[in-house]
Amino acid sequence: MSYGFDFDQEINRDRSHSVKYDGRQAMFGKSDVIPAWVADMDFAAPPAVTRALIERAHHPIYGYTQFPDSLYEALIGWMQHRHGWTVQRDWIVMCPGVVPSIHAAVLALTQPGESIVIQPPVYFPFFSAASQTGRQLLQNPLRLDNDRYTIDFEHLEQCARQAKFLLLCSPHNPAGRVWSPAELERLLQLASAHNLTIFSDEIHHDLIYPGHRHHVLAALAAHHCSIITAVAPSKTFNIPGLNLSALIIPDKTIRTAIIKAFDTLHVNASNPFSITAFEAAYRDGEAWLEALVYYLRDTRDDVCAYLMQHLPEVKVIPAQGTYLLWLDCRTWGLSDAQLKHFFIHEAGVGLNPGVQFGHEGSGFMRLNIGMPRHTVLRILKKITEAKFCR
Ligand SMILES: Cc1ncc(COP(=O)(O)O)c(C=O)c1O
Repeated sequence: MSYGFDFDQEINRDRSHSVKYDGRQAMFGKSDVIPAWVADMDFAAPPAVTRALIERAHHPIYGYTQFPDSLYEALIGWMQHRHGWTVQRDWIVMCPGVVPSIHAAVLALTQPGESIVIQPPVYFPFFSAASQTGRQLLQNPLRLDNDRYTIDFEHLEQCARQAKFLLLCSPHNPAGRVWSPAELERLLQLASAHNLTIFSDEIHHDLIYPGHRHHVLAALAAHHCSIITAVAPSKTFNIPGLNLSALIIPDKTIRTAIIKAFDTLHVNASNPFSITAFEAAYRDGEAWLEALVYYLRDTRDDVCAYLMQHLPEVKVIPAQGTYLLWLDCRTWGLSDAQLKHFFIHEAGVGLNPGVQFGHEGSGFMRLNIGMPRHTVLRILKKITEAKFCR
């Protein structure tokens, strides 16, 4: 099948200072595993982004740079067109990354000792947002029934009585869930009843497989009140190293508090290259993204088919979004240390151990499929062969 862009092209990332490749020794204790861990992709960024960066580089002065109107317009246009959400310009706060924003929001909106609710298994910096800021973690583990993760609303209600801040991952990394409007509405009701502020990390919200639709939480809220929405072109267009994201905060008091936290830390997000890429991606990257989603969908389906045929005891949790697949290896009965050892030293592949995402991830592995499909299949083959050699 032709996708219109060459996602099968293999690009050598060695010695490009890439965390995923050059960080293998530090992460896995060896540098020859096929890396499928940290969440960036091995695809060239959209040609429109590369063209814009080259053009910017031709201007040989890389001085302090401010955010142009055209950058805000590109983001507002994208949110309207792709997500049906009308965003006002003064709601937008630019910031280098989503993780720093989470920390800034926690510092700005909660007090030391207060609790933060997270829903594991979940992206691991959600844990450190509490542990590194002197806040308490209140965990509302997702429920896993019939290979599908859902929110435990009864338990969440109990948590909401003891906390005023919730970190939501939407779509969810690593569970691959794209939350339904009904789930999000229920969350909003609960938040409203208990005065819960929600930080909605929607960084993966453009990577949604056909048949599913992402709903921006704040767009569903009758009054936007206490929701901070984090978005970025970084996962969508594979430019995370450029470090630029945006918070969308309709509530003025919350917005002012977060801006103050950034100002206190002197976090300066403006950078001539990140600004250029951000704007070009949102303005001219849509055709590339649409092709990418089909490519990833086909890869996801091939992974499921391959495992079903060759290694049926490993179950893939059906991902509705994101390029991260959550593999349930629990039937092997290995401890997490044994599982890690098996993947690294016997199969020679570098995935994220599920326990990194909380105890609920015990016995799971996270596979990043953002790479040429033949490489993903090579990884699966190596896992299968290693399993049969045991
Ligand atoms: C849910 C989620 N939030 C945030 C990030 C990282 O965001 P940033 O690089 O902008 O800090 C990731 C990266 O994997 C992620 O999966």
